[in-house]
Amino acid sequence: MAASGSRFSLDDFRHEALSEVGSTNSECLARARAGDPGKLWITATRQTSGRGRRGRAWTSEPGNLYASLLLIDPAEPPLMGSLPLAIAVAVHSAVRAVLPPGGEPLEVKWPNDILIGRKKTCGILLEGERLADGRRALVIGIGVNILHKPDSAPYAVTRLADHGANVSPEELFAHLFRTMAEVLESWDEGRGTAEISRRWRELACGVGEKITVNLPDRSLEGTFAGIDEGGLLLLDTGFGRIMPIAAGDVFFARMD
Ligand code: BTN
Repeated sequence: MAASGSRFSLDDFRHEALSEVGSTNSECLARARAGDPGKLWITATRQTSGRGRRGRAWTSEPGNLYASLLLIDPAEPPLMGSLPLAIAVAVHSAVRAVLPPGGEPLEVKWPNDILIGRKKTCGILLEGERLADGRRALVIGIGVNILHKPDSAPYAVTRLADHGANVSPEELFAHLFRTMAEVLESWDEGRGTAEISRRWRELACGVGEKITVNLPDRSLEGTFAGIDEGGLLLLDTGFGRIMPIAAGDVFFARMD
């Protein structure tokens, strides 16, 4: 059961930095199963089995940021829909802090990819499970391309170093640690969804553009009409039909 009041002040978060781990997400889930109370960040210099969305591997050589945040019972399930947007706002803010001014646009692609010049520079993987004691563990895994980017990917990719950011993973993480606490406090276990949605919309790219949304079993095409109050993507499939979508991979016509 989520408690009321502010549960996300900066001092409540802990951080453990590892040199090498299979996956920081897996490590957080293991800590949760072992009884960790949450608000635990785990970072690693290198991952040997980094995971991306849809079962893809996430190449994890030293030089990029690999960070996962474990939350326990972050909100009541009906209020969880806007959490991916809150995470995007927090990561965007951290990346903004290390990029020189000017340059190509730093934007968010629904729900929480961070793009520079429409190329992906950061991936976010949310994984959750119900623990044996009934608590719900949620892990927010964040990988930011700083020095490296994958040689091949099903979308355009970039890295911060190509945009004038001369930053270490530790320095970027220090910003992320602060921005995530600030944004989660504003998200307020889902009660701050309207404010988070407002901030997310200011950062979003592609509203009004033609998109393809890949679902596990099919692809949908239409116009990106924005997000609803709960954070669902609104796809205008024509003839006045607006389809709300909770999860999927978005591809812009001009990007991919
Ligand atoms: C994506 O496919 O876009 C999501 C990639 C998420 C990668 C990060 S790196 C830190 C954390 N640990 C993992 O194994 N994956 C996430």
